[in-house]
Amino acid sequence: MRLVLLGPPGSGKGTQATRLKEKLGIAHISTGDLLRAEVAAGSELGKQAKAVMDAGNLVSDDILLGMLRSRLSQPDVAKGFILDGYPRNVAQAEALDGVLADIGQPLDAVVQLDVDADQLIERLAGRAKEQGRADDSPDAVRQRLQVYTQQTAPVVDFYAERGTLARLDGIGELEEVEARIHAVLPKAG
Ligand code: AP5
Repeated sequence: MRLVLLGPPGSGKGTQATRLKEKLGIAHISTGDLLRAEVAAGSELGKQAKAVMDAGNLVSDDILLGMLRSRLSQPDVAKGFILDGYPRNVAQAEALDGVLADIGQPLDAVVQLDVDADQLIERLAGRAKEQGRADDSPDAVRQRLQVYTQQTAPVVDFYAERGTLARLDGIGELEEVEARIHAVLPKAG
């Protein structure tokens, strides 16, 4: 299974990808986690990315594409993957098509988690208190939501036009949201 999980900041992409990874036995590729690992390691890439991330903006497409190519070349990806946080603009969606064509692994499904802005803000404010993630500050959340509307929402249309998109209600108990995702995934075999 090769799946893209789309949705605004706080919609539950990471939470659901973690659950799906366990159930489906496939890799979870979170570009946010990959970037945070670079920041934590103090690498050159991490230093470049940190200020951009903390302000709630997108890191450059070139950096992301390099990271993605490298991650998709690792052996665990052969069983399938869930992409969480990529693509985030139409240029990235087009680049993803190219990378997947190169490795002969086209997408099986694209799932969008819909959650209203009030609920997103509430969830991210809750996480800010619990975990103190730098980009969960009110200013950064406002910017992330704006970036989502301007740059990432068109990606939803990109996949909808191809007929590969399933849009789901992302509000509810974690088990309920997960069951909605399983219900739209193509059955194996
Ligand atoms: P990234 O880490 O991808 O952040 P995001 O998309 O803003 O996503 P979040 O992690 O905030 O939310 P989520 O949808 O995963 O929800 P989660 O499950 O965590 O990216 C961070 C930054 O990295 C970007 O801003 C950008 O700078 C950079 N970046 C990353 N990818 C990039 C790319 N491709 N191009 C350029 N830059 C890139 O849940 C959120 C909270 O809600 C949690 O507390 C959770 O417990 C709770 N929750 C989840 N589900 C539910 C539920 N059903 N009910 C109640 N609470 C719930």
